[in-house]
Amino acid sequence: MDYTTLYQRSIKSPESFWREQAQKLPWYQFPETILKQTDQNYSWFPDGKMNTCYMALDFHVEQGRGEQTALIYDSPVTQTRQSFTYRELLNEVSVFAGALQDKGVEKGDRVVIYMPMIPQAAVAMLACARIGAIHSVVFGGFAARELAVRIDDAKPKVIVTASCGIEINKVIEYKPLVDEAIELASHAVEHCIVYQREQAIAAMNSSADSDWEDLMNQSHPVACTPVAATHPLYILYTSGTTGKPKGVVRDNGGHAVALNYSLSAIYNLRPGDVFWAASDVGWVVGHSYIVYGPLIFGATTIMYEGKPVKTPDAGAFWRVIDDYNVNVIFAAPTAFRAIRKEDPEGGLLKKHTLTSLKAIFMAGERLDPATYEWTREQTRKPVIDHWWQTETGWPICANPTGIEMVETKPGSSTLPVPGYNVQVLNEHGGEVANGQQGAIAIKLPLPPGCLLTIWQDEARFVSGYLSRFQGYYCSGDGGYKDKEGYVYIMGRTDDVINVAGHRLSTGEMEEVLAAHPAVAECTVIGIADSMKGQVPLGMVLLKDNVKIDETTLENELVAMVRKEIGPVASFKQAIVVQRLPKTRSGKILRKVLRQMVSAEPLNVPSTIDDPDAIADVQQSMRNKGIIQ
Ligand code: COA
Ligand code: AMP
Repeated sequence: MDYTTLYQRSIKSPESFWREQAQKLPWYQFPETILKQTDQNYSWFPDGKMNTCYMALDFHVEQGRGEQTALIYDSPVTQTRQSFTYRELLNEVSVFAGALQDKGVEKGDRVVIYMPMIPQAAVAMLACARIGAIHSVVFGGFAARELAVRIDDAKPKVIVTASCGIEINKVIEYKPLVDEAIELASHAVEHCIVYQREQAIAAMNSSADSDWEDLMNQSHPVACTPVAATHPLYILYTSGTTGKPKGVVRDNGGHAVALNYSLSAIYNLRPGDVFWAASDVGWVVGHSYIVYGPLIFGATTIMYEGKPVKTPDAGAFWRVIDDYNVNVIFAAPTAFRAIRKEDPEGGLLKKHTLTSLKAIFMAGERLDPATYEWTREQTRKPVIDHWWQTETGWPICANPTGIEMVETKPGSSTLPVPGYNVQVLNEHGGEVANGQQGAIAIKLPLPPGCLLTIWQDEARFVSGYLSRFQGYYCSGDGGYKDKEGYVYIMGRTDDVINVAGHRLSTGEMEEVLAAHPAVAECTVIGIADSMKGQVPLGMVLLKDNVKIDETTLENELVAMVRKEIGPVASFKQAIVVQRLPKTRSGKILRKVLRQMVSAEPLNVPSTIDDPDAIADVQQSMRNKGIIQ
């Protein structure tokens, strides 16, 4: 069936469309109800019973695929290669699930996972799924305070960590960060399980600490706990507009159905194929396409502990594709910008063969036409931009290559994926004409796999996503559709920025800057960066009579953000300004500042308090070479 027919069916008859997809998976009890309306939203497969880990591992072994490779671990930073068959991975997971149960973890309990890109991270996630526990993976580039905030929100019984992560050639000790986070948090974590890596052996401080290997030697495998399809599988914190991260809650059933569908419809994969999402388990891409999606689908997944460059060079991606006969790769555009910068002529690519590779998918940030063209010319493979968010868990717009490879238009993430009724709305909630920009919204119901709610904060879920346009999910992105329905995502309409494909909140950075004793007021905006897409820029107004050298202040602010949020924020620049443009009610005109740094015409509202502030800020930016 062609894309248009399938898409229309998915929108007109979502229940029969998704029932058919659900039938492709092994449920303990197939759902009688496919879609149920709740107060303001919908839930999928509410009376279905299943287990995600069973679908991802046990089922494949039962079907005779136990000897197929499930997971390949490739770590140029430790010179390690290791692979696990489905049977081996199942053995590891079911024993670690037993270890968690021995620590008192029960269905519905939370487990925080703070780990580098090692197989044990996937084992810990799947083990939680096996016993119906809810995991919350925190990206290793976040500082102790960020981890503490998540601990206090998720209230885990157990934290699973490793002794260290390795960033190119730097060994980053994780255990002291975890200890500090536990100290900072008000919630008391009962147990901390540590996977010791030889690069840095962690000190085990208290009776609450246990060694991963010891537990694996002592524990017994446990069976899967059946859960309702709507039971939470995980919480994944993502940046919102305020300082407090949002705990996106994902269900089990809708998630499994959506991911399984996406691997064939979008990525055009067959069971047994090799899929490589070059991301990190700390991000949604890692959850959906390093761990759960490929395994549920019966593919081979790759966990790569390295970077696109410097581990050891810009040929790393091509080497991995060649070594493991990767069929589909998925990475952020920033990774390809980094490769292009170091190897513009593709000399390192020529040392490898990419014959297995069918397509290169990119997401996480806007795919700029220059990166698109360079990657396509160098690899001679289809390069596919697709758009999604932590909240949706799987792509909203894409070239549905498994249904039909449609025309690609540079700058567009192509067409809405079946299940997503994507509309562009004006500020009153009316649909705008093709070609006109507006807020991108998705008409409810969202398809399976999208967020259930915000952890312990249904009100924030409703106010953040469902209230702005009645009957729609508001994505927070702006853009337009062309006359053929192709969607162009132009960027966030809120104060979220995208740094090297990582989503960060400027509000959170502002809270950190505001704590500096010399700072009276501040704001943070994203400015263009040729490699990372965007990087944050802090603008601070000093308190009266404060005398401080600007470079000293900048260094202190940079250190504070690194300490409080983490190196992942890539906060490296702060400037002192004399005034900040504000409305008469005192709201900083961030949009005008964003327009200033992107050299767009300034749209200054009539409510501006002090119009001269505009020229002042422009001068401060010019002095620092931020604008011309
Ligand atoms: N643990 C600890 N520290 C981490 C970390 C982790 N898991 N991940 C990143 N960091 C640190 C880095 O070491 C760096 O620290 P530094 O300031 O001391 O150098 C900082 O956080 C910023 O990291 P990063 O954004 O990765 O920048 P980089 O300059 O080290 O590398 C790229 C640049 C382009 C190579 C890198 O950003 C990249 O590979 N991007 C792809 C992004 C991606 O996969 N996104 C997932 C969404 S699909
Ligand atoms: P995250 O939740 O971290 O996956 O970030 C989601 C945000 O990244 C989206 O809201 C967009 O702003 C941006 N994004 C992701 N994919 C794309 C894309 N293909 N094109 C443009 N922006 C994207």
